[in-house]
Amino acid sequence: MKIAKSIVELKDHYNRMKLKPSGFVPTMGALHEGHLSLVSAARKECGIITVSIFVNPTQFNDKDDLKNYPRTIDEDLGLLSDHLSENDIVFVPSVEEIYPEPDKRVFNFGNLDKVMEGAQRPGHFNGVAQVVSRLFDIVKPDNAYFGQKDFQQLTIVRELVRQTGNKVKIISCPIVREDDGLAMSSRNQLLEPSIRKNAGAIFTTISKSSELLKTMEIENVKKYVFNNINLLPEFNVEYFEITDNIELNLVKRKSQMKKGNKYFACIAVKAGKIRLIDNVEIQLL
Ligand code: PAJ
Repeated sequence: MKIAKSIVELKDHYNRMKLKPSGFVPTMGALHEGHLSLVSAARKECGIITVSIFVNPTQFNDKDDLKNYPRTIDEDLGLLSDHLSENDIVFVPSVEEIYPEPDKRVFNFGNLDKVMEGAQRPGHFNGVAQVVSRLFDIVKPDNAYFGQKDFQQLTIVRELVRQTGNKVKIISCPIVREDDGLAMSSRNQLLEPSIRKNAGAIFTTISKSSELLKTMEIENVKKYVFNNINLLPEFNVEYFEITDNIELNLVKRKSQMKKGNKYFACIAVKAGKIRLIDNVEIQLL
């Protein structure tokens, strides 16, 4: 694999390679099996893969979160060298390379960035849209791979692509989990051991919620989820919502759920100082 720090090096590599289709996996590094599953999905379909590693400052609404975000570039490059071929390329730009000038663009995603993560992290999705659109302009991929783990991000990226008329195909990949069910995340390594040992309860609880919804109303299932997780020391549920994956309309009663739509149970939990998110698709039948 090649490593490019500048846009010029990256473009020079593409011009020499001319392999199709080209796949793109944007990341913020601190790579784990979840990220690598996106690379594997790209490997099956693409002649050339670009993985970007860029901790995007504009999507962090919390300065401490940006400062503490794990940065493990040597380990990341080691992992990628096992998964990429010699034609593939890792793009590791500086902040100046991505934002030679401050990005002042303000996107309008309507309801999509007003709920759940958007409500809890003001400006977060505007920053994600800035960097993803910038990276798409630079990399110009045929396919781009995103994890279902970041459910709302995926919906917003699809909307961004629709609004900008970009031809890139967005491919969503399933959530990769630890043995106890905790969704893999770069932030998991920041969890205190006493908190980590209980964190599998997030997945077991939302999986159970999907079961309970077959017989119970949403309001009662919500109570179950809040109670079950909040009784763990230092765990606090920020939100638990049932939503479709297109318009992100939060469903309050089961009678509002429309046949043919897909629905997901989405959760954010503050576990000690660390925010964790997860989701499962709801099977009502
Ligand atoms: P990051 O958190 O590094 O995630 C990069 C990609 O990996 C995202 O598409 C995310 O959904 C996916 N991913 C993370 N954990 C996963 C898991 N357990 N299973 C499957 N996929 C997983 O998401 C971002 O970075 C940034 O917002 C980015 C899109 C790169 C823009 O800065």
